[in-house]
Amino acid sequence: MEISNELIGIIKKSKNVVVLTGAGVSAESGISTFRDPDGLWTKFNPMELASMDGFISNPDLVWEWYNYRRKIVHEVEPNPGHYAIAEMENIFPKFTLITQNVDRLHQRAGSHNVIELHGNIMDNYCKDCKTPFEDDPLAELHVPRCRKCGGMIRPAVVWFGEMLPRLELAKADESAKQADLFFSIGTSAEVYPAANLPITAKEYGAFVVEINPNKTSITKYLDYFLPYPSGQVLPEILKKINTNI
Ligand code: OAD
Ligand code: ZN
Repeated sequence: MEISNELIGIIKKSKNVVVLTGAGVSAESGISTFRDPDGLWTKFNPMELASMDGFISNPDLVWEWYNYRRKIVHEVEPNPGHYAIAEMENIFPKFTLITQNVDRLHQRAGSHNVIELHGNIMDNYCKDCKTPFEDDPLAELHVPRCRKCGGMIRPAVVWFGEMLPRLELAKADESAKQADLFFSIGTSAEVYPAANLPITAKEYGAFVVEINPNKTSITKYLDYFLPYPSGQVLPEILKKINTNI
């Protein structure tokens, strides 16, 4: 694994660090990504399973698919990449974690104040009156109904065609603008507006590092590319910045 001393120097000097993560960060925990050859969107149709139209056409199918994913998330553990990102919070004077992941593995690894751009699959709410559903979703084989209004209960994730939570997006955008070091980790950078964040950070003067075994459509605009799995390279980076050479 090649990590230059120049990069370690830049990381060590940084005061305001922002990390954006995508599904690749959870791959080493055993959670499928979306767009890799064995990814979820190569096996399943996102319009059927991750859109309001799909939910209305076949609510039980959508509910069952989310329960299948919830079960996987319950069975797996955060990996060394998640733990390294959690530790970064204690290293830099200012640190912000923005994730597109809905699996809550960052929080389980000890990260605080995670900006969840795409929601999470554990929480649920009524599609009509938005009242949160507090029961265990895994106990429900069919779509539960809202106790207040009878509406269908849906997972608290952002579906295709839906807006991202406004406050979260504003916070993410602001932190990208203020970062002096920005990491884009384990994301294909195909889904907007999240994919804009590394570009915004770069435009506003941050040094932008991408960690991904594969190049993405934004690699060429960024400053440094580390072509390794995040669970391997992040602990290495921490080791290097913690050793005074
Ligand atoms: P993708 O599946 O589009 O991309 C995952 C990226 O992770 C790919 O570029 C892989 O090369 C990379 N990758 C795979 N293994 C890795 C590893 N061990 N370490 C680092 N990188 C690795 O996933 P996202 O970019 O997260 O939306 O997708 C964005 C959004 O599209 C998701 O949040 C989801 C999906 O539709 C919602 O659920 C709303
Ligand atoms: Zn309701």
